[in-house]
Amino acid sequence: MKVTKICCIGAGYVGGPTMAVIAKKNPNIKVTIVDINKARIDAWNDPDVSKLPIYEPGLAEIVKETRGKNLFFSTEIDKAINESEMIFISVNTPTKTYGKGKGMAADLKYVELCARNIAEVAKTDKIVVEKSTLPVRTAQAIKSILDNTGSNVNFEILSNPEFLAEGTAIQDLLNPDRVLIGGESKDAIESLANIYGSWVPQAQILRTNVWSSELSKLTANAFLAQRISSINAISELCEKTEANVDEVAKAIGMDSRIGPKFLKSSVGFGGSCFQKDILNLVYIARSYNLQAVADYWEQVIILNDHQKRRFADHLISTLYNTVSGKKIGFLGWAFKKDTNDTRESAAIYVADHLLNEQANIAVYDPKVSNEKIQSDLNYLNTRSEEENNKLVQATDTPYEALKDAHAVAIMTEWDEFKTYDWEKIYTEMKKPAFIFDGRNILNKSEMEKIGFEYSSIGQ
Ligand code: NAI
Repeated sequence: MKVTKICCIGAGYVGGPTMAVIAKKNPNIKVTIVDINKARIDAWNDPDVSKLPIYEPGLAEIVKETRGKNLFFSTEIDKAINESEMIFISVNTPTKTYGKGKGMAADLKYVELCARNIAEVAKTDKIVVEKSTLPVRTAQAIKSILDNTGSNVNFEILSNPEFLAEGTAIQDLLNPDRVLIGGESKDAIESLANIYGSWVPQAQILRTNVWSSELSKLTANAFLAQRISSINAISELCEKTEANVDEVAKAIGMDSRIGPKFLKSSVGFGGSCFQKDILNLVYIARSYNLQAVADYWEQVIILNDHQKRRFADHLISTLYNTVSGKKIGFLGWAFKKDTNDTRESAAIYVADHLLNEQANIAVYDPKVSNEKIQSDLNYLNTRSEEENNKLVQATDTPYEALKDAHAVAIMTEWDEFKTYDWEKIYTEMKKPAFIFDGRNILNKSEMEKIGFEYSSIGQ
């Protein structure tokens, strides 16, 4: 099928950047991104591209270049579905918070709503592309919904999971390690491969069966998260033995069988995907009665929770076993640098733990607002909104967050944190002034020379 118009349902962290790059590289294809969230669409259409709903280096420039030419953002979902030959489903698939599989399984209600929406309004043949991360064999359910519409429309389902990482989304999309397309129909697969083919070499476009494609995405995230939990497990051992986790990571990473990436020890991984996708994998394994497989992968999450918890516990015990009424300055709230995404950020859980001990927290993050911080904490339901608001506040500058603080907790690895005037910060903090570097980004001996009591992960 020759594709001239694409619709993408879901204008989020994946739909927005992915479609912007597809539009940039395929000027002859009209790409429309639709969403039920009007405020989000309005933000994507804001003439001032610094106000886009998602921050990713390089994204604003591409949106500026393509928007209104062949890239459009709209809430008119039916219209966009109808006119397009290819429809991407890129909606959220969070962990279920109710019913069977609560806390484990992926909630597929948004995906199903999309499938029903497409089934209802499509009048011509469509290729439907699963871009969301989905449990293996979801394509079957989508196909069943689409094929029972009573119309004569033919639907081909493809799985095309997204491997971009937030913070480097545009670079990852422009130079992907691989693009994965799972499907049954060769014609449909090649239609999608052609779109990527305008900038990705064909050898890097993998074609597989649908189930391999769906499972590969869950597996990739499980392996990536497992590396972090593995090095974090070693970090605790380092702290007991005076080994240094960064030295260990370097030494093992030079083994070409292991490789150097994703071996940075930290306060724990966050983000909307790793935990949710592993829980989903564990749930699927359990549903096939594969207990040993399920337990194996679940351990990655257990270790990550442990890492966040022990960071907070270490902070409290170092501050003479009490943080009650003490000001703790957080540097960073986003789950990693170069993104405004805070979903499942370690900062949220560390803050919650410290708030249970009645700490006062001031947060500085270059891309996260006070409103977002409050909503992240309120979502946990640990205490009232008023209390969260009273105990936690974002500041406009890092120096405000750290003035009169007993301790600094570095939660995100933003580059700018390294460039601050740490002498000034030291002068303005309560003494002894403690730094808890949850990302190992500062230099221990430099900080100690200034006078800080510095501790990091695995050192
Ligand atoms: P997101 O939450 O940023 O965006 C999803 C959007 O879909 C929201 O704006 C929501 O309003 C919209 N939506 C939900 N139901 C809808 C419906 N019925 N009709 C129209 N719009 C609807 O989510 P994000 O981060 O973009 O993730 C999307 C999928 O991609 C998830 O399955 C995720 O696991 C996967 N993924 C995410 C990555 C990431 O780094 N965030 C990376 C790779 C995959």
